[in-house]
Amino acid sequence: MSHTELIRALPKAELHVHIEGTFEPELMFEIAQRNQIDIPYKSVEEVRQAYNFHNLQSFLDIYYAGANVLIHEEDFYDLAWAYFKKCAEDHVVHTEIFFDPQTHTDRGIAFETVLNGLQRACNDAKTKLGISSYLIMCFLRHLSEEAALKTLEQALPYKNQIIAVGLDSSEVGHPPAKFTRVFAKAREAGFLVVAHAGEEGPPEYVWEALDLLKVNRIDHGVRSEEDPVLMQRLIQEKMPLTVCPLSNLKLCVVDDMQQHNIHRLLQQGVKVTVNSDDPSYFGGYMNDNFFAIQKALNLSEAELKQLAINSFEAAFIDNTEKQSWIKKIQAL
Ligand code: HPA
Ligand code: ZN
Repeated sequence: MSHTELIRALPKAELHVHIEGTFEPELMFEIAQRNQIDIPYKSVEEVRQAYNFHNLQSFLDIYYAGANVLIHEEDFYDLAWAYFKKCAEDHVVHTEIFFDPQTHTDRGIAFETVLNGLQRACNDAKTKLGISSYLIMCFLRHLSEEAALKTLEQALPYKNQIIAVGLDSSEVGHPPAKFTRVFAKAREAGFLVVAHAGEEGPPEYVWEALDLLKVNRIDHGVRSEEDPVLMQRLIQEKMPLTVCPLSNLKLCVVDDMQQHNIHRLLQQGVKVTVNSDDPSYFGGYMNDNFFAIQKALNLSEAELKQLAINSFEAAFIDNTEKQSWIKKIQAL
């Protein structure tokens, strides 16, 4: 089997994908039209041309603008359903999906509208495509901790539909420490916790995510490599990093894919996983991310399998399910 065939054949779990970041321009136009909302682009080509980001903030500005056309439950359903179809093509058999309620509730959309649309797509993904999924609710870190606390309150009645809380948006200047209390409350309420850290922010933010937020996984975390003591901690604790190679390239976290540290992190024993982050904006879904690192870093068959195994080990599914997927990977 060639490396390409192996990548396609591997069952994979995706642990870092923002549902609002899977919004393809074609669907954006369709939903804008039916909701009679003007968008500042004339064509799909013009939208794609606007996607020339040079850092996280320049991406986020466009990403939040795109989300403005999402109004009705059906819109959120269509968005998530389109992503699940991509999962099926890429043999992603399990996914843990971020959503940003504040991006929508701040525009007057009900929390319930967002969650119901996403949940219905998750249910259909299970019955029609055999794909399992969890939802992870992210707090926008450029907003206040008080706003995050209000969002957590809104989520409590839906606790059984949300596996974890996370932290995303503009990293630098908004350290994990800003959200210590809301994460403590979320953990008390029984949510698992994750946080974006060490994407653009320094290793200190990864330390804070571990020590103050007490996260179960770090999202991105690639800048951890700058701190050898932190590296030892991540290795010893088997702390998963949900790495997003094409995202890092598009947002200039790395200059070119040959410079990406995912291979070095893997070789040093960090539990790294491969993920697409915002695939509509960054040039590809799960398999595209695998193809890009394979081409640039020349990973072995065993390393590709290890990345897929890591994705299940780091997932929030039960141990029996993990072992059953891992066995399938080892048998390939
Ligand atoms: N980083 C921070 N916030 C985000 C991202 C990201 O990669 N994608 C969507 N929101
Ligand atoms: Zn992300």
